[in-house]
Amino acid sequence: MTSIISKKSSALSGEIKVPGDKSISHRSLIFGALGVGTSRITGLLEGEDVLNTKKALQQLGVKIEKVSDEYLVEGLGVGGLQKSEKTLDMGNSGTGIRLMMGLVASHSFETTFTGDDSLRKRPMNRIIVPLSQMGVEITASEGGRAPLTVHGESDPMPITYESPVASAQIKSAVLLAGLNTPGVTSVVEPRPSRDHSENMLRSMGAEIKTTSLEKGAQKISLKGFPDLKAAHFNVPGDPSSAAFITAAALLVPGSDVVIKNVCMNPLRSGFFECVQDMGGDISYANEATQNGELIVDVHVKHSQLKGITVPTNRVPNMIDEFPILSVLASFADGATEMHDIGELRVKESDRIGVMAKGLKSFGVNVEEGKDFLIVKGFDKKSVSDVTINSSHDHRIAMSFLVMGGMLDHSVKVTGAETIMTSFPNFVELMNGLGANLEITT
Ligand code: S3P
Repeated sequence: MTSIISKKSSALSGEIKVPGDKSISHRSLIFGALGVGTSRITGLLEGEDVLNTKKALQQLGVKIEKVSDEYLVEGLGVGGLQKSEKTLDMGNSGTGIRLMMGLVASHSFETTFTGDDSLRKRPMNRIIVPLSQMGVEITASEGGRAPLTVHGESDPMPITYESPVASAQIKSAVLLAGLNTPGVTSVVEPRPSRDHSENMLRSMGAEIKTTSLEKGAQKISLKGFPDLKAAHFNVPGDPSSAAFITAAALLVPGSDVVIKNVCMNPLRSGFFECVQDMGGDISYANEATQNGELIVDVHVKHSQLKGITVPTNRVPNMIDEFPILSVLASFADGATEMHDIGELRVKESDRIGVMAKGLKSFGVNVEEGKDFLIVKGFDKKSVSDVTINSSHDHRIAMSFLVMGGMLDHSVKVTGAETIMTSFPNFVELMNGLGANLEITT
């Protein structure tokens, strides 16, 4: 097990790039596998989650190789995957397992999935339910968990699935199954979730229609059996990784940092909007569009923040950023209220519970409820050395390491190897900017 110790940071300054977006990286590999011809991927996140998706696709017969800084994926066309004799181990990745379950559901062979301790605790019924409606049989462990086997259906039925949660993982799993299904497969989501699947599949030639419904809901419909053209995916920087650097720069006095080439898809930008509402000095430059995604350079300077109430309609657009937002909230003037965030309880860890407990160990005034978290300030002077267990959750680990940079005493995060799932060069980048992180064993 790796531990990382975070000590008081110097002012952060410099210009950096964060690794490729995790959501787009998974999808580049998966959609590339379904194209006709060879897809090229540049800027792929080489984190464990994405590498597990790559390996799983290879086990399903897809040839993927790295040639200098590009990944080449030889697409087999929609419906062209082959049975894997081995169990697919998706490691820590909810996105990996859920998207891959949808992918194999409409292939007429069985696929068994497993994952690490964290993934095996996470709910898969949210994927099992819609896929079952399409006629796919799935045998899962108790409570609808992995390990599980998808008995792929050769004659799946198109459905319109009304998802109870705004989840891009659910939406993408159903659309992936719908690709190899006759007719039109639709998903209705209560609020728009990230739309990378729609953008990327459209760019490859799929027919996908998005219709706004009442009360902020929307319906996404996909026509089955498209001929998907091979693509060149140029993966932009991950805004969820950029959020940690942004937070550190906002907190540490004297900081001034530019993060180049960050994906600023409006369905991913909720954290940056909140930080601006809190008084954070953030500006964007060099706006461009790349593969249908808005890309910007983010310029952040140290700022004294004030607490806010996060608008609930913003929650899906920053679903992964609540751990780091609650660290920022601890240093802000006044309370920060985060409501309607029940989904955080079923992420890589129970992020409401783990953040509340962790922050309390620093003496932060926190109120926790089933689906809310309210963070008030704390007395930095009364904190002594603190140890936090990552709970197999990369974002918990990075959040508390950022917090450590602001304190006179050290913060030790155990189980910090989990950071490799999404941000392999986190320590190197942070230290290069002026942070004081030390890897121990
Ligand atoms: C993701 C969707 C989100 C997010 C996850 C990545 C994706 O999950 O938390 O880190 O790539 O589709 P939900 O769709 O379950 O909210």
